[in-house]
Amino acid sequence: MIGITGATGGVGSGVIRHLRAAGRDDLVALARRPEALPPGVTARRADYDDPASLAEALRGLDTLVMVSSDGIAETMARHHRNVIAACAPDVHIVYTSIIDIAPDTRFYYAPGHRETEALLADRPHCLARTGVFADFFADTWLETATATGELVLPLGDGAPGTSFVAREDVSRALAAAATARLEGVVDLTGPEALTGDQIAAAVTAALGKPLRYQPIDDADYRARLAADGEPEWLIEAYASMFRSVREARFATAPGDVERLTGTPPMTFAEYLRR
Ligand SMILES: NC(=O)c1ccc[n+]([C@@H]2O[C@H](COP(=O)([O-])OP(=O)(O)OC[C@H]3O[C@@H](n4cnc5c(N)ncnc54)[C@H](OP(=O)(O)O)[C@@H]3O)[C@@H](O)[C@H]2O)c1
Repeated sequence: MIGITGATGGVGSGVIRHLRAAGRDDLVALARRPEALPPGVTARRADYDDPASLAEALRGLDTLVMVSSDGIAETMARHHRNVIAACAPDVHIVYTSIIDIAPDTRFYYAPGHRETEALLADRPHCLARTGVFADFFADTWLETATATGELVLPLGDGAPGTSFVAREDVSRALAAAATARLEGVVDLTGPEALTGDQIAAAVTAALGKPLRYQPIDDADYRARLAADGEPEWLIEAYASMFRSVREARFATAPGDVERLTGTPPMTFAEYLRR
């Protein structure tokens, strides 16, 4: 039986869809709001902040697709500790980590992912390290950018760029890793790393909305977010991610999506056209 956390979210719901399409009917969708799940899936309530609910929800699984939690980094790490503590030691865990995980990175979420990876070390596991989701980038920054015609971000002045991976490809790869009970580390990244200019060109071509990349430095970017009233942790999360982009920590391409799924990961332009 395969459990999937974050089942109401983009990645988790995609994993369930791909496993069902592959004929698996022994799935358990784990969610803090099971009532939000579509009918026809076996659902159990699993709140990362409620260890008793986790112990009950994770009973009887042989595989767990553990989609990472979100928000403030310390909360995310606590959620992951709770899930792993509630999970029997022989369960194969496929965990969505991050490619920017080296000890010397300043990325806000890296310490939490490193801690979680370490907790999985003596269990059967697959560390699925993802790049920046195309969906996340588009949802977070493209609405304003296309409205103003300017993509104002601290992506740097050219290479190395960012390798965007669509959540659809991540979900398909996680489903394949869970089915195969794959062990080890895989990089779930896009087919190519794009510079700021290339991102703007892809948006212009795919959506027919003229967009120009306008580089901004770290201090100005942080000041803009603060002026918009964003909380300190989110400013750190975004600014440190872009710092890592400039340091070539999110440029990995193409990674392991095609090896796992048999299908090349979609380009950013393909993602936008869909
Ligand atoms: N690589 C990237 O670019 C990137 C970007 C953003 C996030 N991420 C990471 O990737 C993960 C999956 O992304 P996504 O796009 O699928 O996120 P998403 O659509 O926001 O889904 C997040 C899921 O986590 C669940 N969740 C949150 N807090 C919970 C709690 N206390 N107990 C149980 N479930 C909880 C949510 O449940 P509800 O529906 O009840 O809220 C939802 O199902 C994120 O959670 C984050 O760790 C990666």
